[in-house]
Amino acid sequence: MRRPFVAGNWKMHGSRAENADLIDALLQGLPAQPACDIAVCPPVVYLWETGRLLKESSVALGAQSVCAEPIGAFTGEVSAAMLKDVGCRYVIVGHSERRHHYKEDDALVARKFLAAQSHGLIPILCVGEFLEERERGQTMAVISRQLAAVLDLAGVDAMRNAVLAYEPVWAIGTGKNATPAQAQEVHAHIRATVAARESASGGKIAAALRVLYGGSVKAGNAAEIFSMPDVDGGLIGGASLKADEFLKICAATQAH
Ligand code: 13P
Repeated sequence: MRRPFVAGNWKMHGSRAENADLIDALLQGLPAQPACDIAVCPPVVYLWETGRLLKESSVALGAQSVCAEPIGAFTGEVSAAMLKDVGCRYVIVGHSERRHHYKEDDALVARKFLAAQSHGLIPILCVGEFLEERERGQTMAVISRQLAAVLDLAGVDAMRNAVLAYEPVWAIGTGKNATPAQAQEVHAHIRATVAARESASGGKIAAALRVLYGGSVKAGNAAEIFSMPDVDGGLIGGASLKADEFLKICAATQAH
Protein backbone atom coordinates (compact mmCIF):
# COMPACT_ATOMS: atom_id res chain seq x y z
CA MET A 1 0.00 0.00 0.00
CA ARG A 2 1.02 3.63 0.31
CA ARG A 3 4.32 4.16 2.08
CA PRO A 4 4.05 7.22 4.37
CA PHE A 5 6.05 10.30 3.45
CA VAL A 6 7.20 13.23 5.57
CA ALA A 7 8.71 16.32 3.96
CA GLY A 8 10.21 19.28 5.80
CA ASN A 9 9.54 22.66 4.24
CA TRP A 10 12.21 24.88 5.73
CA LYS A 11 10.71 27.98 4.07
CA MET A 12 13.06 31.02 4.36
CA HIS A 13 15.01 29.76 7.36
CA GLY A 14 18.53 28.54 7.98
CA SER A 15 22.14 29.34 7.22
CA ARG A 16 25.00 27.15 6.01
CA ALA A 17 26.04 26.50 9.62
CA GLU A 18 22.51 25.87 10.91
CA ASN A 19 21.70 23.57 7.99
CA ALA A 20 24.83 21.52 8.59
CA ASP A 21 23.90 21.09 12.27
CA LEU A 22 20.31 20.17 11.40
CA ILE A 23 21.27 17.60 8.77
CA ASP A 24 23.92 16.15 11.06
CA ALA A 25 21.39 15.71 13.88
CA LEU A 26 18.81 14.24 11.49
CA LEU A 27 21.19 11.69 10.04
CA GLN A 28 22.46 10.77 13.53
CA GLY A 29 18.93 10.26 14.81
CA LEU A 30 17.41 8.42 11.88
CA PRO A 31 16.89 4.69 12.30
CA ALA A 32 18.49 2.40 9.72
CA GLN A 33 15.03 1.59 8.37
CA PRO A 34 12.89 4.74 8.67
CA ALA A 35 9.14 4.21 8.97
CA CYS A 36 8.53 6.50 5.99
CA ASP A 37 10.08 8.24 3.03
CA ILE A 38 11.65 11.53 4.10
CA ALA A 39 12.63 14.71 2.27
CA VAL A 40 13.86 18.16 3.24
CA CYS A 41 13.21 21.29 1.18
CA PRO A 42 15.76 24.01 1.98
CA PRO A 43 15.88 27.48 0.42
CA VAL A 44 17.11 27.25 -3.16
CA VAL A 45 20.52 28.78 -2.42
CA TYR A 46 21.29 25.90 -0.03
CA LEU A 47 20.06 23.03 -2.20
CA TRP A 48 23.40 21.98 -3.59
CA GLU A 49 25.21 21.98 -0.27
CA THR A 50 22.34 20.28 1.56
CA GLY A 51 22.33 17.59 -1.11
CA ARG A 52 26.05 17.02 -0.48
CA LEU A 53 25.40 16.78 3.28
CA LEU A 54 22.64 14.24 2.72
CA LYS A 55 25.07 12.17 0.64
CA GLU A 56 23.74 8.64 0.17
CA SER A 57 21.33 8.87 3.10
CA SER A 58 17.66 7.91 2.91
CA VAL A 59 16.66 11.60 3.11
CA ALA A 60 15.77 13.06 -0.28
CA LEU A 61 16.18 16.64 -1.44
CA GLY A 62 13.29 18.87 -2.50
CA ALA A 63 12.87 22.47 -3.60
CA GLN A 64 10.19 24.91 -2.46
CA SER A 65 9.19 26.30 -5.85
CA VAL A 66 10.06 26.15 -9.54
CA CYS A 67 9.66 28.35 -12.59
CA ALA A 68 6.97 27.29 -15.05
CA GLU A 69 9.24 28.23 -17.97
CA PRO A 70 12.04 25.91 -19.08
CA ILE A 71 14.84 28.43 -19.78
CA GLY A 72 15.49 32.03 -20.72
CA ALA A 73 15.18 35.62 -19.56
CA PHE A 74 13.35 35.12 -16.26
CA THR A 75 15.44 37.06 -13.73
CA GLY A 76 15.46 35.52 -10.28
CA GLU A 77 13.76 32.29 -11.32
CA VAL A 78 15.05 28.70 -11.17
CA SER A 79 14.08 26.05 -13.71
CA ALA A 80 13.05 22.45 -13.15
CA ALA A 81 16.13 21.28 -15.08
CA MET A 82 18.35 23.24 -12.67
CA LEU A 83 16.65 21.71 -9.63
CA LYS A 84 17.13 18.27 -11.13
CA ASP A 85 20.75 19.11 -11.92
CA VAL A 86 21.55 19.88 -8.27
CA GLY A 87 20.00 16.65 -7.05
CA CYS A 88 16.37 17.44 -6.24
CA ARG A 89 13.84 14.63 -6.33
CA TYR A 90 10.82 16.69 -5.25
CA VAL A 91 9.52 20.23 -5.62
CA ILE A 92 6.65 21.89 -3.77
CA VAL A 93 4.18 23.62 -6.09
CA GLY A 94 1.16 25.70 -5.14
CA HIS A 95 2.12 26.31 -1.53
CA SER A 96 -0.34 28.79 -0.06
CA GLU A 97 2.47 31.27 0.63
CA ARG A 98 3.28 31.26 -3.11
CA ARG A 99 -0.39 31.41 -4.09
CA HIS A 100 -1.16 34.32 -1.78
CA HIS A 101 2.00 36.40 -1.24
CA TYR A 102 3.17 36.00 -4.84
CA LYS A 103 -0.23 35.79 -6.54
CA GLU A 104 0.35 32.39 -8.13
CA ASP A 105 -3.05 31.36 -9.50
CA ASP A 106 -4.39 27.88 -10.25
CA ALA A 107 -3.31 28.08 -13.90
CA LEU A 108 0.29 29.00 -13.02
CA VAL A 109 0.46 26.28 -10.36
CA ALA A 110 -0.68 23.75 -12.97
CA ARG A 111 2.05 24.90 -15.37
CA LYS A 112 4.66 24.60 -12.62
CA PHE A 113 3.42 21.08 -11.86
CA LEU A 114 3.86 20.15 -15.50
CA ALA A 115 7.29 21.80 -15.74
CA ALA A 116 8.47 19.83 -12.71
CA GLN A 117 7.25 16.50 -14.05
CA SER A 118 8.60 17.08 -17.51
CA HIS A 119 12.09 17.24 -15.98
CA GLY A 120 11.67 14.16 -13.82
CA LEU A 121 10.87 15.92 -10.55
CA ILE A 122 8.03 14.73 -8.33
CA PRO A 123 5.74 17.69 -7.59
CA ILE A 124 4.28 18.02 -4.10
CA LEU A 125 1.08 19.83 -5.03
CA CYS A 126 -0.43 21.87 -2.18
CA VAL A 127 -4.11 22.69 -1.93
CA GLY A 128 -6.06 24.33 0.88
CA GLU A 129 -8.76 26.77 1.84
CA PHE A 130 -8.87 30.03 3.79
CA LEU A 131 -10.73 30.13 7.11
CA GLU A 132 -13.51 32.27 5.58
CA GLU A 133 -13.97 29.70 2.82
CA ARG A 134 -14.26 26.91 5.39
CA GLU A 135 -16.75 28.95 7.42
CA ARG A 136 -18.84 29.55 4.30
CA GLY A 137 -18.90 25.79 3.60
CA GLN A 138 -16.74 26.17 0.48
CA THR A 139 -13.82 23.92 1.47
CA MET A 140 -14.53 21.07 -0.94
CA ALA A 141 -15.32 23.45 -3.80
CA VAL A 142 -12.00 25.27 -3.32
CA ILE A 143 -10.03 22.01 -3.19
CA SER A 144 -11.86 20.71 -6.27
CA ARG A 145 -11.09 23.90 -8.20
CA GLN A 146 -7.39 23.83 -7.26
CA LEU A 147 -7.11 20.15 -8.19
CA ALA A 148 -9.09 20.50 -11.42
CA ALA A 149 -6.65 23.08 -12.77
CA VAL A 150 -3.84 20.52 -12.54
CA LEU A 151 -5.88 17.52 -13.65
CA ASP A 152 -7.19 19.43 -16.70
CA LEU A 153 -3.70 20.42 -17.82
CA ALA A 154 -1.62 17.39 -16.81
CA GLY A 155 -4.22 14.59 -16.93
CA VAL A 156 -4.95 12.02 -14.26
CA ASP A 157 -2.02 9.80 -15.30
CA ALA A 158 0.30 12.55 -14.02
CA MET A 159 -0.84 11.70 -10.49
CA ARG A 160 1.20 8.49 -10.71
CA ASN A 161 4.31 10.63 -10.19
CA ALA A 162 3.04 13.25 -7.79
CA VAL A 163 2.32 13.81 -4.12
CA LEU A 164 -0.63 15.87 -2.85
CA ALA A 165 -0.60 17.97 0.29
CA TYR A 166 -3.68 19.35 2.01
CA GLU A 167 -2.65 22.50 3.83
CA PRO A 168 -5.55 24.53 5.22
CA VAL A 169 -4.33 28.12 5.16
CA TRP A 170 -5.71 28.79 8.65
CA ALA A 171 -3.56 25.99 10.08
CA ILE A 172 -0.22 27.07 8.60
CA GLY A 173 2.13 28.52 11.18
CA THR A 174 -0.77 29.28 13.52
CA GLY A 175 -0.39 26.44 16.01
CA LYS A 176 -4.00 25.53 15.18
CA ASN A 177 -3.99 22.22 13.31
CA ALA A 178 -6.95 20.69 11.51
CA THR A 179 -8.56 17.96 13.59
CA PRO A 180 -7.86 14.43 12.36
CA ALA A 181 -11.50 14.23 11.23
CA GLN A 182 -11.29 17.51 9.29
CA ALA A 183 -8.11 16.33 7.57
CA GLN A 184 -9.56 12.91 6.79
CA GLU A 185 -12.66 14.45 5.22
CA VAL A 186 -10.62 16.59 2.81
CA HIS A 187 -8.09 13.85 2.06
CA ALA A 188 -10.90 11.47 1.15
CA HIS A 189 -12.35 14.17 -1.09
CA ILE A 190 -8.99 14.64 -2.84
CA ARG A 191 -8.70 10.90 -3.45
CA ALA A 192 -12.28 10.69 -4.72
CA THR A 193 -11.72 13.66 -7.05
CA VAL A 194 -8.72 11.94 -8.62
CA ALA A 195 -10.55 8.60 -8.80
CA ALA A 196 -13.45 10.27 -10.63
CA ARG A 197 -11.08 11.14 -13.49
CA GLU A 198 -9.95 7.54 -13.92
CA SER A 199 -11.90 5.51 -16.38
CA ALA A 200 -9.22 3.16 -17.74
CA SER A 201 -7.38 2.54 -14.47
CA GLY A 202 -10.39 1.93 -12.22
CA GLY A 203 -9.27 4.05 -9.27
CA LYS A 204 -5.78 2.57 -9.02
CA ILE A 205 -4.02 5.91 -9.45
CA ALA A 206 -6.06 7.51 -6.66
CA ALA A 207 -5.55 4.51 -4.40
CA ALA A 208 -1.77 4.77 -4.78
CA LEU A 209 -1.58 8.58 -4.46
CA ARG A 210 0.05 9.85 -1.28
CA VAL A 211 -1.85 12.73 0.31
CA LEU A 212 0.04 14.56 3.05
CA TYR A 213 -1.39 16.86 5.69
CA GLY A 214 0.35 20.16 6.47
CA GLY A 215 -0.44 22.84 9.03
CA SER A 216 0.94 23.01 12.58
CA VAL A 217 2.00 19.36 12.70
CA LYS A 218 4.15 18.72 15.77
CA ALA A 219 5.57 15.70 17.54
CA GLY A 220 2.62 15.93 19.93
CA ASN A 221 -0.19 15.77 17.35
CA ALA A 222 1.37 13.88 14.43
CA ALA A 223 0.34 10.34 15.39
CA GLU A 224 -3.36 11.11 15.72
CA ILE A 225 -3.42 12.93 12.37
CA PHE A 226 -1.38 10.22 10.60
CA SER A 227 -3.66 7.50 11.99
CA MET A 228 -6.42 8.64 9.61
CA PRO A 229 -6.84 6.21 6.69
CA ASP A 230 -6.31 8.79 3.93
CA VAL A 231 -3.52 10.78 5.62
CA ASP A 232 -0.26 9.39 4.28
CA GLY A 233 2.19 11.61 6.16
CA GLY A 234 2.93 15.29 6.53
CA LEU A 235 4.38 18.44 5.03
CA ILE A 236 6.05 20.08 8.00
CA GLY A 237 7.02 23.73 8.39
CA GLY A 238 8.25 25.04 11.74
CA ALA A 239 8.72 21.64 13.37
CA SER A 240 11.02 20.51 10.52
CA LEU A 241 13.66 22.97 11.74
CA LYS A 242 14.20 21.02 14.97
CA ALA A 243 15.79 17.63 14.40
CA ASP A 244 14.24 15.92 17.42
CA GLU A 245 10.73 17.15 16.56
CA PHE A 246 11.08 16.20 12.91
CA LEU A 247 12.40 12.74 13.76
CA LYS A 248 9.49 12.16 16.14
CA ILE A 249 7.06 13.23 13.42
CA CYS A 250 8.69 10.79 10.98
CA ALA A 251 8.41 8.00 13.57
CA ALA A 252 4.74 8.88 14.14
CA THR A 253 3.91 7.63 10.64
CA GLN A 254 3.93 4.20 12.23
CA ALA A 255 0.43 5.13 13.39
CA HIS A 256 -0.75 5.01 9.75
P1 13P B 1 3.77 24.82 9.78
O1 13P B 1 4.08 23.37 10.03
O2 13P B 1 4.81 25.75 10.29
O3 13P B 1 2.36 25.17 10.21
O4 13P B 1 3.80 25.02 8.17
C1 13P B 1 3.13 24.11 7.37
C2 13P B 1 3.55 24.34 5.96
O5 13P B 1 3.24 25.35 5.38
C3 13P B 1 4.36 23.31 5.30
O6 13P B 1 4.47 23.55 3.95
